[in-house]
Amino acid sequence: MEQVALGTTGLMVNPAGLGCGGYSRLGMRDGGDASVAEGVIRKALDLGVNFFDTARAYGTEEVLGKTVQSCRDEVIISTKTMFQDREGNYMPAERLVASLERSLERMQTDRVEVFSFHGVTPEHLQHCLEVYVPVLQKEIEKGKIRHLGITESFMHDPTHEMLKTAIPSGAFDVVMVGFNFLNPCARDEVFPLCIKHGVATQIMHAVRRALSNEEVLLETVQQLIKSGEVSASGINADDPLDFLKSHRDIASVTQAAYRFCRHEPGVSVVLNGTGSQDHLVQNVAAIHEAGLPGDIQDRLLNVFGRVRSVSGD
Ligand SMILES: NC(=O)c1ccc[n+]([C@@H]2O[C@H](COP(=O)([O-])OP(=O)(O)OC[C@H]3O[C@@H](n4cnc5c(N)ncnc54)[C@H](OP(=O)(O)O)[C@@H]3O)[C@@H](O)[C@H]2O)c1
Repeated sequence: MEQVALGTTGLMVNPAGLGCGGYSRLGMRDGGDASVAEGVIRKALDLGVNFFDTARAYGTEEVLGKTVQSCRDEVIISTKTMFQDREGNYMPAERLVASLERSLERMQTDRVEVFSFHGVTPEHLQHCLEVYVPVLQKEIEKGKIRHLGITESFMHDPTHEMLKTAIPSGAFDVVMVGFNFLNPCARDEVFPLCIKHGVATQIMHAVRRALSNEEVLLETVQQLIKSGEVSASGINADDPLDFLKSHRDIASVTQAAYRFCRHEPGVSVVLNGTGSQDHLVQNVAAIHEAGLPGDIQDRLLNVFGRVRSVSGD
């Protein structure tokens, strides 16, 4: 199975990563028990997936740690910490260290390869850099964290303002970026900076809701026509992706969505979040497919290339 470099971390990853959160939470969202999640993780391992993104907030650290225990040295675990309490106050830095310790305990491991601040919006970046990063760097020295990361909140920051400052700061080896063909502005705003600064990327929102649910897609496109970011004359508003669905080299909208992300320069790992082993098989295959046919890639960028306001949720 093809592997790619995770930026300049020295780690090699399968570009198809498994997201253990999102709407699916490995199938645990709708009351699915941990055995469903375990089955998805085992299937991912069988398929050669070696990058797993979880978080304290997802409730999937425990099942992930347990399932990969016998092959822990062969997998890369990315997890995250919150930094505000329920009232929205900043937590003291020691609570982030305690959160790391509890994540390690839940996953029965002694270190994580990537430890990220979860869902940082622009107004909180400076506090993370000034107060938390120096404290977490000590955990790197102790070997509990291999690389520091940061994840954005694509829904609240669809133009990536936070990452535009975080990436050049030099504090982070890995960033999580929202990217899909409905809002591809990371191509201009984020990936060139990541390449310049040697920062790896994890892609979220490759599919999310708008590219896995026809109704949400129609609503999203209506909104974009209204805002003037998509031209009504360039698209069939009743079936906005008809040109893509009818192409003989494209299996489905989700397949096209993963292929679109995977081949963009600056992209390291494309996360897919699912509770279905069948979907997982399709998604890993899609991420390893060739890039989109040139005419489709051009058409998508022609239609959606000016979008800056949605996340595809
Ligand atoms: N700020 C953050 O830190 C943050 C925010 C969001 C996400 N993330 C990370 O990114 C990962 C990816 O999650 P995402 O929320 O962006 O979602 P995603 O993986 O882009 O899409 C997930 C949705 O698509 C459906 N789906 C997946 N494969 C499909 C297929 N082949 N056919 C039809 N439907 C399919 C899933 O439902 P099924 O279960 O039915 O397949 C789910 O509803 C998360 O797990 C998490 O690790 C991080």
